[in-house]
Amino acid sequence: MVHVGEAPGKLILCGEHAVVAGHPAIAVALPRMTRVTLRARLGATAVASGIDDPRLLPALCTVVPDTGWGITIESELPVGCGLGSSAALAIATLRAWNAHEVATGGERADFDALHVRAFAIERAFHGNPSGVDHAVSALGGAVRYTRAGGAPRITPLRLHEPLALVVVNTGPPSHTTAELVERVRQRGAEAELAAIGVLVAEVAERLEAAHVDVAHVGALLDRNHALLQGIGVSTPALDAACVTLRRAGAAGAKLAGAGGGGVAFGLCTRDTAATVAAEAAAQGLDVFGVTIHPTAW
Ligand code: MEV
Repeated sequence: MVHVGEAPGKLILCGEHAVVAGHPAIAVALPRMTRVTLRARLGATAVASGIDDPRLLPALCTVVPDTGWGITIESELPVGCGLGSSAALAIATLRAWNAHEVATGGERADFDALHVRAFAIERAFHGNPSGVDHAVSALGGAVRYTRAGGAPRITPLRLHEPLALVVVNTGPPSHTTAELVERVRQRGAEAELAAIGVLVAEVAERLEAAHVDVAHVGALLDRNHALLQGIGVSTPALDAACVTLRRAGAAGAKLAGAGGGGVAFGLCTRDTAATVAAEAAAQGLDVFGVTIHPTAW
């Protein structure tokens, strides 16, 4: 028996860290996929992935039984760089396992079931994640996500125009997401996190406009980056990447994800994105361009 599940990575446009404290965040699914293949086998469940992480097999075995399966992971996402590699792995694994459940008479998992069950895998990697990463990986498109009090509130962000982004990977972070989240908690950064929440609400409103004012949204993203610097999760490499992206013509730039390394992105117009990416690459940065298209919800 062979079952396959796929899921995309993600980019947090704004609101990382604030979302852990109950404020909103906006995230988009990236056209970069993780694929999980399950094959029935004799003996203990084993994983083939090329990923050297002792948490991997225990995390997957929160979903897949610990005997009887060979798990193969193929991914277009760099691990642990803020592009949602673990969230994509969680959703792809659940989709593959659910294919097995359906084949043996079980029910097809809807979004809510996927989202709730994926927390087990995400917790194995990240401690107490907000759930935004695997929400957008499961839903696709662009989403607004809040976890205030009880259940998460997840609403599609209704884009009318494509968003042109240029992403720079500064390399693996020096700290895990759980460590960075804990550092922010210990710092007592409530005022900065609340200010990020206010920015997110404005960015969401502007991104849903019929015509996006890219320059204005870019300035809001710059402010978000400054607030993330203020709570101690940026790095000199992330700050330099943002400066390079802005100098190359991006309307605004910020780190994305937990920080401490990993990715930053610039928001561009569709006319400038290719030049910005080429300029950043010429400066020696590891860069790729991505267009986020409106989704028919
Ligand atoms: C990590 O991609 C985003 C954080 O906000 C953590 C979380 O939401 O769980 C830093």
